[in-house]
Formats: sequence, C-alpha cells, structure tokens
Amino acid sequence: MPGPSAGLLVDRGSREHYADADLYDHEYRRRRDDVRYYRALAQRLLGGPGRILELGCGSGRLTLPLLRDGHQVVAVDGSPTMLAALERRLGRAGAAARGRARVVEGDLRDFAVGGRFPLVIAAFNVLEHLYTRVELAACLARVAAHLAPGGHLAFDVQLPDPRWLARDPSRRWARTRFTHPRTGVPMIYSTNHDYDPVSQIALIRLYYERADGRGRARVVHLSQRKYFPAELEGLLAWSGFRIVERRGDFHGAPLTAGAESQVLVCARAGRRPRR
Ligand SMILES: C[S@@+](CC[C@H](N)C(=O)[O-])C[C@H]1O[C@@H](n2cnc3c(N)ncnc32)[C@H](O)[C@@H]1O
Repeated sequence: MPGPSAGLLVDRGSREHYADADLYDHEYRRRRDDVRYYRALAQRLLGGPGRILELGCGSGRLTLPLLRDGHQVVAVDGSPTMLAALERRLGRAGAAARGRARVVEGDLRDFAVGGRFPLVIAAFNVLEHLYTRVELAACLARVAAHLAPGGHLAFDVQLPDPRWLARDPSRRWARTRFTHPRTGVPMIYSTNHDYDPVSQIALIRLYYERADGRGRARVVHLSQRKYFPAELEGLLAWSGFRIVERRGDFHGAPLTAGAESQVLVCARAGRRPRR
C-alpha cells in the first residue's frame, strides 16, 4: 500500500490526465481497434441493440459509436471535464442517439444507476484506476449488482511489460512532436514514471513542452495499477467472476508474452464453489 503522500499522488493521477478532454481526444484519435472490438462484441453478445452500462466512459470515444449502433447506454465517469466533452458530442449527435444515452457522474467504486444490464463495459485501462484489491472488489461488487442474469463484463487492461516497468525514471521516453489541438502551438510530449513493485502502481508523468523551448514543461500525472494476468484471474474469482474469453489484443490474438493488452470477457461464476 502506498503511504499518505503517495496516496495523494495516486489520486491526482486519476484526475489530471482527464482534465483536458480536447488533448485526450487528440492523443487517442487514432485508437480505433478497441472501438471496433467492443461494437462487435456488443452485437455478438446482445444479438442486436440492447442495454449497456459503460464504466469510465470518458469523453465518449466508445459511447457514441455504441449509441449509433442502436444501444441504450448508461455512461458513468468521475471526471466532470470528460463528461462535459461527452455532453458536447451528444449535442452534435442525432436526436435518436442522444435519446438512448444517460450520462451519470459517479465513481467506479460506489456507483448505483438503477436497473440491470446484460453487458457492462470498461474500455481502455479504466480498471487500472482501481489501485488496491479492495477498490477492485468494490467496483466488481457494483458491477455484480448491475448485471442481468447471464450478463457479461468486458474490459481491457494493459499486460504489464517488465521492460517498461523497469525504465529509468530519470530519462524522458516516447518523445513525440504534436500540434496542440486548441492553441495550434507545436509541442513535444515525453513521459517517464516511478513504478512500485509492491503496490504495483506506476506513477506516470506526462511532460508537455513547447517545441521552441519557451516556457517550462507542464507535468500531468497519471496513475495506473498494473494487473498481472494470474493475479487478475484470482481477483476476479474472489469477487465471483469467471473469465469467459481472454485475448492479447482487439483482433483475437492469444494472450502471450509481448501482448499489449489483456482483453477480457467475464461472467458471474454462479453458485458453484470457487475453483
Ligand atoms: C483511460 S480513460 C478511458 C475513457 C474511455 N473509456 C475511453 O475509452 O476513451 C479512463 C477514464 O476513467 C475515469 N476514471 C478514473 N477513475 C475513476 C473513478 N474512480 N470513478 C469513475 N471514473 C474514473 C477517468 O475520468 C477517465 O475518463
């Protein structure tokens, strides 16, 4: 468990990266495979338009495509900025899609939106914002309370990469030039992190600097809890879930060394003793 000051940093890292929704949308504008995957999964599991509870919906990267596919989506997130961006997107969507959406500001660990859903989705590392087994169990208990009989929980988290975890925190990694989507200013992005192998939490720093070198870098914190596959399976079983499907990417590749993501579909384990 992190100490009190580390706890505050972890908390900052749940919010800061989501305080600028324009930048978030710009950074992940080319991330499309997961959206295609979850749309196809919803079609396969629900057999057509159905009711979906989306946890950590953010600015609606996945929410809008699901609504356009005819689903009713209850979209939950804890970030007012991301939800405001989602509301703007909904405002631009057709009335029919907008009418199928319900947006709820809530916390992954204690949400209550009413009703039961055949499909609950937490896309793009959302569950990495649950930093302890107690927080994950609290979230899974809320998922269980909202899941219709025979329903599924689908989510993805990263597969921890030992080389990434061990990166030198004093260096800057992944230097990338980009144009800021709001100001038009040429920028340089870089990152580094401290990883605590006991709590399994990475405290990530994202640096945003002007490409012309003027001014100081803006540092944005992002905290992620790393979940190792066998551990995740155990934590899910502890909360009464079994893994129905587990892949290493959004195209169905097996989960093996070097995979980027753990893409899971889970169901309630039923009344049988946990094995
Ligand atoms: C990586 S983003 C994913 C957003 C969206 N699912 C997507 O695919 O673009 C993680 C989201 O989880 C939300 N989040 C983090 N911690 C949360 C919490 N404790 N309760 C509710 N939402 C949380 C953030 O606000 C953010 O929108």
